[in-house]
Formats: sequence, C-alpha cells, structure tokens
Amino acid sequence: MSANHTSKLQHLQQLANSIKFPRNMVLGAATASYQIEGAVNEGGRSPSVWDHFTRIPGNIADGTNGDIACDHYHRLEEDVALMKELGLTAYRFSICWSRILPNGRGPINEEGVAFYERLTDLLFKAGITPYATLYHWDLPLTLQEEGNGWLRRGLVDDYINYVDITTQRLGSKIKHWTTFNELFTFTWWGYGLKEDAPGFGGGAKAALAASHHALLAHGRAVPIIRRNVPDAQIGIVLDLNPVTPASDTIADLEAARRFEGCQNRWYLDAIFNGQYPADMLETYKTVLPYIEETDLHEIAQPLDYLGINIYRRSIIKDGTEFAPVNFERHLPEGKYTQMGWEVHPECLYDILQYVNTNYAPKQLFITENGAAFSDTLETDGSIQDCDRSTYVLSHLKQAARAIEDGIPLKGYFCWTLMDNFEWAEGYLPRFGLIHVDFETQERTIKQSGRLYSMVADQLQSEMREASE
Ligand code: FCB
Repeated sequence: MSANHTSKLQHLQQLANSIKFPRNMVLGAATASYQIEGAVNEGGRSPSVWDHFTRIPGNIADGTNGDIACDHYHRLEEDVALMKELGLTAYRFSICWSRILPNGRGPINEEGVAFYERLTDLLFKAGITPYATLYHWDLPLTLQEEGNGWLRRGLVDDYINYVDITTQRLGSKIKHWTTFNELFTFTWWGYGLKEDAPGFGGGAKAALAASHHALLAHGRAVPIIRRNVPDAQIGIVLDLNPVTPASDTIADLEAARRFEGCQNRWYLDAIFNGQYPADMLETYKTVLPYIEETDLHEIAQPLDYLGINIYRRSIIKDGTEFAPVNFERHLPEGKYTQMGWEVHPECLYDILQYVNTNYAPKQLFITENGAAFSDTLETDGSIQDCDRSTYVLSHLKQAARAIEDGIPLKGYFCWTLMDNFEWAEGYLPRFGLIHVDFETQERTIKQSGRLYSMVADQLQSEMREASE
C-alpha cells in the first residue's frame, strides 16, 4: 500500500471511530430481488417486467440483464455469512412477486416461499433482522400485460392479494414490512418515460395514474399486513431529495417548487395528510387520473416508519423535463459519482430535517444511501475504495448529527451489500460494500465494507457492554 493510501486510510479510520450512534441504532445493508437473485427461470419463478425490458435492445447501457446477477439465489449461505462478517444487524431485501405467485395471482409457488424462509432462517441464525420490501419494481409480466400494469386500477386488488398471501406465509418470521420501494422512480421513469421497466413512456398522465394506483395499493395493504402480523412494523420507502432553486428568479423558484412537489410532496402529503398538494393538483390539472373520493383517506394509513432513500440533493431551475413539471437540474462544480450524482453529505441531514419538520413520522430509517465508483483490484487482491468509503462515512456522520438533533432516525441501510445489476445502467456502476467478480462470482469485502463494519462493531461492543 502506498504512503499516500496509508495516510488516507488512517484518516478514514479516524472518521469511522468518530461516528457515535445510540446503542439501538440499526446498521444494515440493502438489496433488491432482481438486482441480485439471478435464477430467473428456476424455482418456479415466472418473468417480471424487468426480464422483458432487459431483452429489448438499447434499454440497458451494457446490454446485460439480471438472469444471473449475483447468483444470490444459489449463494444464500455465503452471502449471509458475509453480512455477518460485516457486522450488520439488519438486512433489507425485496421479495419477487413472481416467485410467490408465478401467474401474478392464483396458485402459490411453494418453492418461492421456501426460498425466502430459508433466507430468513439464515439471517436469524446470524443475528441479523430481516426487513422485507414487498415491491421493488419486479411486477409479474402477466400482470403488466393486463391493462399495462399499474395503469389499471384493478392491479390494486392483485397487489393486495399478493401482500395478503406473502405476509400470511412469512409474517411469523418477518416483522419489518415495507409496502413499496420508491413510487416516484418506477412510476415516472417506467410509466412516464421509457428509461425503466415497463418502458411505457406515457408522460405525466401515465406516471400519475401509476402513482395513484400504487399509493392506493400501499394504503390498502397496511391494514392487511397488520391483521396478518399483529406485531409488525410497517412502512413505505420513498426517494426524496432536498430541493433548492438554482437562482432567485421567479422562474427558477417556481420550477423548484414544482419539482419538490412532484418528487416529495405528492407522496408525502398523500401518505401523511391524506391529500394531494393543492399547487400540484393545479399543475397536473390536465393529466390527473381518476381519483375516487375515499382514495386519499385510504392512502393515509398510520405507519410505524418512513424509509428514505437519499443519494443527492437537487438544485433546480426552469426547464422542460417531466412536462408539466418543467424543470432542469443545475449541476454545480464538485465531486460526482459514476451515476453523475453530486456528492453532498449534508443532503442526508437536510432531508431528515425536512421530513421530520413537515410530516413528523414516528420513526425514520435511511433505507438506501451509497455511491457508485469504479473499483480496481490491487495486486494483493484488496479493493481500496477511498471515494466510496468517504461517501459512506461522511453520510453516516450526518445521520449521527440528525439523531443528536432529536430526529427519530432509527437505522441506516447502505446501498448496497454487493455490486449488482444497476437497472438501466447494467453492471457498469458499482455500489457494493462487497466487490463481485461477475465472471467467477467471487466476493471480496472492499475497504468501505471494512470501515462500515468498524462502525457496526463499535456499536455491537457497546451493546454487549451495556447488557453485561
Ligand atoms: C435506487 C433503487 C435501488 C438502486 C439505487 C442505486 O433508486 O431503489 O434499487 O438501484 O437507486
């Protein structure tokens, strides 16, 4: 290791040591079924919208798909052992709907249920708490083909049926349930644009119809999960950004308000206040879906927690994206990740503060935060990923700051456990705490993973001392 690197590492170790969390802080890592499982034709699973979308030339930057991904389906033991080695106390993963119900509805696929039971049992043995997400974008293809998936209001009933079955079958083991991951992303990028599955490209009208139906599905799922799992902790995960206008011109101020309304308030106001924001109803007036009078009431179910996925801030000016939202991003000078996302650790604190002040959820979790940077394997086989290490530790520092300021942040999940299939970007961006060689499936814990486990170990040893 070079002298330069040794001093960088010392600095990072000091940073890791300086991060202090309350003893009950949950430190985990997150993944999603399609991004890691592979085995798409095994165990009775049927195709999802992502299997179909990845087959269409031009959709995925490197022409790849999730057919094998991290082959996690066949490597549960090894992967849970790695989580344990990292010192994680929790693991956030998603359940693939078409493994449980290959036809989207109808007969249950016992092999699918057994797979998630096996994962959960292994997690418990390793002292890791499972946090399950019921929907991380892999809609069964058969349901997409009926009325374009989330554009059909009736899909709400199919989702509820899937949630009912899944929580009945897995609820005795899994107590932390998330209804959806990132409504904004899959509805706007998948139904509004053609960037993500299903690649519908129907503009704001389609994005809002899909959003409304998914919000309703969320609201109707909550009481079903409560009935099936009386001691459950139930929440939803949203991707939120602190938004600032690029200038103080009226045009930029208004664009920032609309963007913030589109990405943040549309979902938060519906979920926490039972209403869509009045200014956005005005902006969207020509593209609104059919909304029944009781829908918003049903959407606004009391939740045990809100999960926030946060990667960056948004500096917004007037523009033409997502008409009629009409915004453009301003990208200031600074450091950027492989995704083209600006590194700005305060965004994590700012978004927690914003949500806590305006909506006061009972508990908050950072359910995703992390960074894609390219990695080089050193001659000794190690990966000295200083940029990712700095990113993760400096964001953790902001999480600790939020807790000190009284924000009810209960946990942090790093995105992601291991390098995986990054949707439309394929395997190019590497986000993992663990490096995956996709030729051999060999896993190597990166320096960022070692530093993250330093923080986790500190916490665990304090817990042990407290209980002695
Ligand atoms: C989030 C997704 C997650 C991952 C990260 C980088 O939007 O929830 O699956 O792709 O971005």
